[in-house]
Amino acid sequence: LTRLTRIAPLVAAIALGVSLTACAPSGGGDVVPQAAPAAPAAPSKSPGEIVFDRSCARCHGQRLEGDGKTPAIDRGDVMSLGDQRLRLLIATGKGKMPAFGKLTDQQVTDLIAYLRTMV
Ligand code: HEC
Repeated sequence: LTRLTRIAPLVAAIALGVSLTACAPSGGGDVVPQAAPAAPAAPSKSPGEIVFDRSCARCHGQRLEGDGKTPAIDRGDVMSLGDQRLRLLIATGKGKMPAFGKLTDQQVTDLIAYLRTMV
């Protein structure tokens, strides 16, 4: 027992030394804490999409899919209409579709560009 009591502090000291060594910085110092990556910004809407949301989506649907009464317009035959035909349709309306004569030329241009990305 006497012998054990005498070496106990020594064992403790060795253990402490080992653990201090293990905790020491491992040289290099190149482990720089990374800043959390910024959350991706919400994709911003194109000008044409904004016009569509405001003027057309309530009938033709957010994704141009139609709503049962209103035809879907994400169709090749609609989009193969030339810009002039589409402009005229938007400006004058058709059947139950109202005319959108108040849209500016630029808004109609943006709108048609947006529609063409959706087909
Ligand atoms: C009040 C509901 C309503 C709104 C708002 C509306 N439409 Fe329409 N749209 C219709 C209906 C109904 C038709 C089908 C007309 C027909 O063939 O008699 C139509 C037809 C169309 C067509 C032709 C589809 C085809 O088969 O020939 C296009 C293109 C179109 N709309 C685009 C738009 C755009 C672009 C807007 C926004 C500026 C818009 N519409 C807003 C109801 C709407």
